[in-house]
Amino acid sequence: MKIFYTKAALNTYLDAQKKNKEIGFVPTMGALHEGHLSLLKKCKEENEISVVSIFVNPTQFDNPEDLVKYPKTFREDTRLLESAQCDILFAPDVKEVYDKKVTATSFYFDGLEHEMEGKFRAGHFNGVGTVVKRLFEIVAPNKAYFGEKDFQQLQIIKKMTEKQQLPVKVKGCEIYREKNGLAMSSRNSRLTQEHKNAAPFIFKTLQKAKIKFGVEDPSTIIKWVEKEFEKQPLLTLEYFSIADEKTLKKIEKKDKKTQYRAFIAVFAGEIRLIDNIQI
Ligand code: PAF
Repeated sequence: MKIFYTKAALNTYLDAQKKNKEIGFVPTMGALHEGHLSLLKKCKEENEISVVSIFVNPTQFDNPEDLVKYPKTFREDTRLLESAQCDILFAPDVKEVYDKKVTATSFYFDGLEHEMEGKFRAGHFNGVGTVVKRLFEIVAPNKAYFGEKDFQQLQIIKKMTEKQQLPVKVKGCEIYREKNGLAMSSRNSRLTQEHKNAAPFIFKTLQKAKIKFGVEDPSTIIKWVEKEFEKQPLLTLEYFSIADEKTLKKIEKKDKKTQYRAFIAVFAGEIRLIDNIQI
């Protein structure tokens, strides 16, 4: 695996390699886990050159403490990528990506940014849009891979790519879970043992909500989920929402033609976990 820290070095290498080769790209913030490796696997299957980036993007952290505490495990990440036969790791520093102005551009994602996460994480999606656009410009991939755990992020990146007419095919990949159902996330490594034991309740509740969706109306399910979490001393529900997959708008009335998804955000101690399920 080649490792590049600068745009110039990456571009020189890619220019020499390219010659009609398909480039697949997996942007990450490091602290890699099997979920990331499943994205890389798909990327390798569908492209001739695989590029993974590791860049902890400061402009997408609405909570500065979260940025400081974000797990940084570069050596272990490199080892994992190496054994998964990643071709290229791009690991720029902040100056390389942002130059002198470490700020986010304001995007309009047709309102997708105001739903769910947008209500709790001010500016987060502008930060994500800014960095992903920048990374797409630098790496110039044919395809890019994102996990569906951050489903709203995935829809926003698809919207941004379409609106900015970036020549990249954005692909969503299924959520990768622990055996107990907990969605894999770099944040899981910060959970205490007791919160780790409690967290699988999140996906179990989503699965039950999915079954209920066949027979009960959305407001009854929402109330049921809220009650279930009241009984969990270690988990605090931030939101549970059933929404149209495309617009991310809350369900009004069930409509057979619309594909819905249930979304959830929960605090396990200080750690904020999100998950979702197609229903
Ligand atoms: O999902 C992530 O890890 C980040 O939001 C991303 C897409 C790499 C942008 O920094």
